[in-house]
Amino acid sequence: MKDLFGMALQDYQNGNYTEDLITSTNISDEDSLPLPYLFREFKDMPKLEQKALKLTKGLVLDVGSGAGSHSLYLQKKGFNVKAIDVSEGAIDVAKKRGVKHTALHSLLDETETFDTILLLMNGTGIFQETSQISTHLKHLKGLLNSNGQILIDSSDIKYMYEDEDGGYWMDMNAGYYGELDYFLSYKGEKEEAMKWLYLDLDTLNLACETVGLNCELIQEGEHFDYLARLTVAS
Ligand SMILES: C[S@@+](CC[C@H](N)C(=O)[O-])C[C@H]1O[C@@H](n2cnc3c(N)ncnc32)[C@H](O)[C@@H]1O
Repeated sequence: MKDLFGMALQDYQNGNYTEDLITSTNISDEDSLPLPYLFREFKDMPKLEQKALKLTKGLVLDVGSGAGSHSLYLQKKGFNVKAIDVSEGAIDVAKKRGVKHTALHSLLDETETFDTILLLMNGTGIFQETSQISTHLKHLKGLLNSNGQILIDSSDIKYMYEDEDGGYWMDMNAGYYGELDYFLSYKGEKEEAMKWLYLDLDTLNLACETVGLNCELIQEGEHFDYLARLTVAS
């Protein structure tokens, strides 16, 4: 990984903001991801993220913390938060912004336990592909203290396959429709392609059942997105 995402965050943090990240997927054209959005304050966060922060309790793990916006908000509220990310640049920026407890590692390398685990801004993306869902969910379950919760958001992206007649053009033999190839570029350089997974609630629910987690819909967003709470099934 070239860590263009982290470089962009570092540029913004260091006052060298000249352009945004460009993203695209195998089913969508180029779009820009504005860097200021990654440094958002509570008032600029989507309702689902605000809800997740309001439901947060106890010791917190912020998975894929990026520039640390959620961690910082919670830290200021008095929570003890650990922010983890695989992007060196992101962790560097989160530290510079004041996140006290950070670690540069993947979710699957986390070993401590928590009362609230946050996966926000399409949290299921980190699972990458459907074959990896149960590995990640089992691992997340093992990181929960008793009565702990996982707060995760995602979207049902079926709408992206809808044609003008209201029909769907997805290839039913091509695997799950939310499993995308994700491309990112910054300042003319291309990042290595990655997998990024969007999960509809029913599929997440089924996957949770198979690993002994309850999946509860907390809130629906404005555009096929949702926030769910996962807890250990009794
Ligand atoms: C879409 S960004 C979201 C950043 C932040 N949560 C926010 O809402 O602004 C996803 C983040 O997850 C990180 N990431 C991807 N895979 C990860 C993994 N397996 N473990 C931890 N972090 C990961 C990326 O480096 C990136 O910072």
